[in-house]
Amino acid sequence: MSEALEEQKPDVISYARLYRLWEENNWSATGIDFSVDKEHWRSKLTDRQRESALWNYAMFLVGEEAVARTLTPVLDAAPTHAQSIFLTTQVVDEARHHVFFDRFMREVVGLGSDTESTLAAMGPHLTWGFKGVFDELDKVTEALRKKPKDRALLAQSVALYHFVVEGLLAVPGQHFIKRYVEALDILPGFSEGIRNVSRDESRHVAFGVKFLGELIKDQECRSASIELWERVLPFAIGVFVPPNMDHSYAHCFDFTLEEIYGFGLRSFETKLRRIGIDPKEIVMLNRQDTSLDYTERARQAWVLIEAGVLGTDDREPDLNEEAMEILFSGLLRAMDMDVARGLDGPIQWIFPDKDPWHVVVTDGHAEAKPGSIEDPALTLEVESSEWAKIAVGRVDPRWALLRRKLKIHGSLSAKARLPKLFV
Ligand SMILES: [Fe+2]
Ligand SMILES: [Fe+2]
Repeated sequence: MSEALEEQKPDVISYARLYRLWEENNWSATGIDFSVDKEHWRSKLTDRQRESALWNYAMFLVGEEAVARTLTPVLDAAPTHAQSIFLTTQVVDEARHHVFFDRFMREVVGLGSDTESTLAAMGPHLTWGFKGVFDELDKVTEALRKKPKDRALLAQSVALYHFVVEGLLAVPGQHFIKRYVEALDILPGFSEGIRNVSRDESRHVAFGVKFLGELIKDQECRSASIELWERVLPFAIGVFVPPNMDHSYAHCFDFTLEEIYGFGLRSFETKLRRIGIDPKEIVMLNRQDTSLDYTERARQAWVLIEAGVLGTDDREPDLNEEAMEILFSGLLRAMDMDVARGLDGPIQWIFPDKDPWHVVVTDGHAEAKPGSIEDPALTLEVESSEWAKIAVGRVDPRWALLRRKLKIHGSLSAKARLPKLFV
């Protein structure tokens, strides 16, 4: 029953029921027997499986420590007693999850000699995306700690904590871990613990969906949540990018990175819809073709990750043909058709390092194609890597214009329409 808890309609789940489930599902992190796991870690896992597990579980350990620490401002700010009671159980859960991962790292993997040193030993395994998401969690919850009556900050904290950190990242991560430890029949202690952690998380997410659904009835809280997701999703997409973009970190356990992205995206968007938010209201999601299935959407996201456009900031984008196509089709979805029609002509992109592209608008329909076009109303001259960063929001086009990295040619009236063209 609790497996699908977070998928249920928030208005049919009461805070009292979530509390009761917590009592019924209590477990002991110190009671788990890791003796067989120690043996499996040495003899049943390949080198790559050990590296992959370490990379993944390190992020869980640091994540659990962070969520145990950052939930108390949410608890203090909760408007009702029923919410505070549940959040108190959640603080306990997160501390217990930290103890579980800490024990595994120390007793099975052999990293660190106490809680502090084990936590510190995880540092090298944290990805760029992970650090970005958790920096933001620290900032938002610290701001809430200082202003506990600020409802918009409370909504942002839940939007980040329960929807992104738990719903988008932890739950899908745990789903795949559970699947492979069971299928390969390895690490029985860890398997038992992760099943318990996962059941707890699904209760936490169910709470978050109900809680945020209530908060965003207020328009300011709704806008603040969307603004938070806009800020954090670019980092979230980088959390599961493995070292050197090496897909064998997933393949060694018989899953694909595209699968985990598709699972996370589906789960996140389902929760948004549960609380009455259309995923298209979030620019980054709107740039994806939502008519495609989640497997294809995840595959396209990975084309952009591999091209260095998403999921990292330490590589210059290098666009292949498909990455360029995905960027342009995303751009068309973000285009204001009324403004585009008002241009009275096509838009041309000139890339000094790649073939040109253009967009033609006819009868409310826009099409992007490679190649040049006669008599463009606007011409944008820009390096393809800079263009990629602008197209996904990594660079503000006004900033690129100021630095002369983006040059625009066309009539004054056409140029004036440009800022309103892409919403
Ligand atoms: Fe947790
Ligand atoms: Fe949690």
